Amino acid sequence: MAETHQEIVKVWIAPGCIVCDACETECPPVFDVQEETCVIRPEALKAEFTRPLTPSIIAAAEGCPVEVIKFETVEVPGPAPWAGKEAQAAEAAAAPAGAAHAGAAKKAVTVPQGPPDPRWAGLLTTAHTTTSASRSAGGPSVELRPAKVPAEAIASALGKDAPPDARTAAMVGSGFVRPRPSVVERIRARAGALTQTQGMTRRQFNVALAVAWGAIIATFGTAAAALQSFLVPKVTKEPPSLFRAGKLSDYPNPGVYEQFKGSQGVWIVRLRDNSLVAVSTICTHLGCIPNWLPADQKFKCPCHGSGFYMTGVNFEGPAPRPLERYKVALDGEYVLVDKSVKFRQELGQWTLPGAYLQV
Ligand code: SF4
Ligand code: FES
Repeated sequence: MAETHQEIVKVWIAPGCIVCDACETECPPVFDVQEETCVIRPEALKAEFTRPLTPSIIAAAEGCPVEVIKFETVEVPGPAPWAGKEAQAAEAAAAPAGAAHAGAAKKAVTVPQGPPDPRWAGLLTTAHTTTSASRSAGGPSVELRPAKVPAEAIASALGKDAPPDARTAAMVGSGFVRPRPSVVERIRARAGALTQTQGMTRRQFNVALAVAWGAIIATFGTAAAALQSFLVPKVTKEPPSLFRAGKLSDYPNPGVYEQFKGSQGVWIVRLRDNSLVAVSTICTHLGCIPNWLPADQKFKCPCHGSGFYMTGVNFEGPAPRPLERYKVALDGEYVLVDKSVKFRQELGQWTLPGAYLQV
């Protein structure tokens, strides 16, 4: 039976790469480990490129801790060209990518040289990646430039049967697609920010804390002031306790005068003995406002039916005592009423000076 061997014609990365760098260390001409994932270098998407690198690609796949390196092989008649030379082939494949790309004469593996496939020309002029070796030397990990090749061109260049992740890898490698930061990367960025915060001096931290507390206190103070301003009335509706109740001549005849009932809560009453009194409009039962009924010549409380004579003395209903009187005086021809001074009949105060005005 004729001897045959397997050669890799297609290699790709399945989802799940943990970016451990092992594959690039093993076979840098094929694998390019970037920030987010590992990608297959554009030139390694050709069968003629991967065929001679079959042993190191297989070694990389076997060394991948999450087994996401996939490949396709074809059976080729004859013995493997690297049979018995696996060690040299692996050593050549593991050489620094820069040296490999430079086409050094020392290489044991034949890497296709010459102009790249025209389908990749645009991609290769727009994508620039560096190896882990250059990263460890302090160079930029990945430099992605805006691609000049539209996504459709990249997709069609890969062929219809290209694995989905190979398309994604080509897009990422060309710089056409910038993957969204992963959760891990965002956590790292957050940790970096926290590290910066912890790098603050104690004094800076205390100042920042004081400013923050000041802002909080100012906010609550403003809110409290607004609330207080809202709750406290701006004007008092309380009528002044001392007021002029018109002229004495405004009360020519005995009777009840109601012009200050609404505004001051006072009836000016000229009694039949020609004395002038200022009577409170507050019922002595529970504080309702009685009405003056001229026909009945009495005050009648609408709440519980208490009745008061024109003098203010109670005579019916639950009111326990007469209506109160306020102090009255003369200011020239004007009548002055002082509501801060009250006179109560049951206390014998109606005869005191100020309880009435003798006209
Ligand atoms: S060895 Fe596997 S997990 Fe590690 S970088 Fe390569 S593909 Fe990713
Ligand atoms: S409040 Fe006037 S009678 Fe009750």
